[in-house]
Amino acid sequence: MNVILTKSYEESAQKGAELILNALSQNPALLLGLATGETPVGIYRRICDAYRDGNADFSRASSVNLDEYVGCRAEDSYRRFMDDNLFSNINLPSENITIADHTADPITEVNRLRKFFERRTVDLQLLGIGPNGHIGFNEPDDELEPHVHITPLTKSTMDANAHWFADGVVPERAITMGMGDILRARTILLVVKGESKRAVLRELLNGGKVTTRNPSTFLLLHPDVTLITEESLTV
Ligand code: F6R
Repeated sequence: MNVILTKSYEESAQKGAELILNALSQNPALLLGLATGETPVGIYRRICDAYRDGNADFSRASSVNLDEYVGCRAEDSYRRFMDDNLFSNINLPSENITIADHTADPITEVNRLRKFFERRTVDLQLLGIGPNGHIGFNEPDDELEPHVHITPLTKSTMDANAHWFADGVVPERAITMGMGDILRARTILLVVKGESKRAVLRELLNGGKVTTRNPSTFLLLHPDVTLITEESLTV
């Protein structure tokens, strides 16, 4: 694992955006795996700025999102988050965007996304990490799922994400890429932001063991992972 330690989240976001934009310039038809939440906001802002300034072209690129809530309101959906923070501000063709439809039958959506991953390989997967070590919504458990699936969310995840919801009520289920879908990405960029991640980050950096109790540790099995985080979170 290639570890980049920074002085601040802003520096992490800058480095993360640079890595994504470099990958895009080397492969204009890049398939990007995308995350939502606090962590990528600064990365997406810089990517939008690069597009505005004429320094990035997404016209041949595609994207697939890690996850989406089941049965949430449009304004609380990850689709809306992605539109607001990225898609509306860059020239990624709408037909090249893949994300679970929060209004559709979840089983139909799981099957649609499973077919997508049978055909396509993510070139660069952007990940954040939950305070409980989840990646995507692969929550700590005795077993983990390899493929796209519907998952109940843990209380830890619902608490961590409640602030995104106007009424504070987080859906209890989500559709998520599975661990195998994530680990098949050619390159993985994990950005860790926030004090609440300190303990799981320590396990990932210092434990050297893979455990379903901290799904992020499965990244130790992947040959091309870059982790960017603030140095202060690692001491
Ligand atoms: C989001 C996702 C989650 C988040 C994680 C960290 O699409 O899959 O795994 O990356 O919960 O969230 P933040 O960045 O809000 O701390």
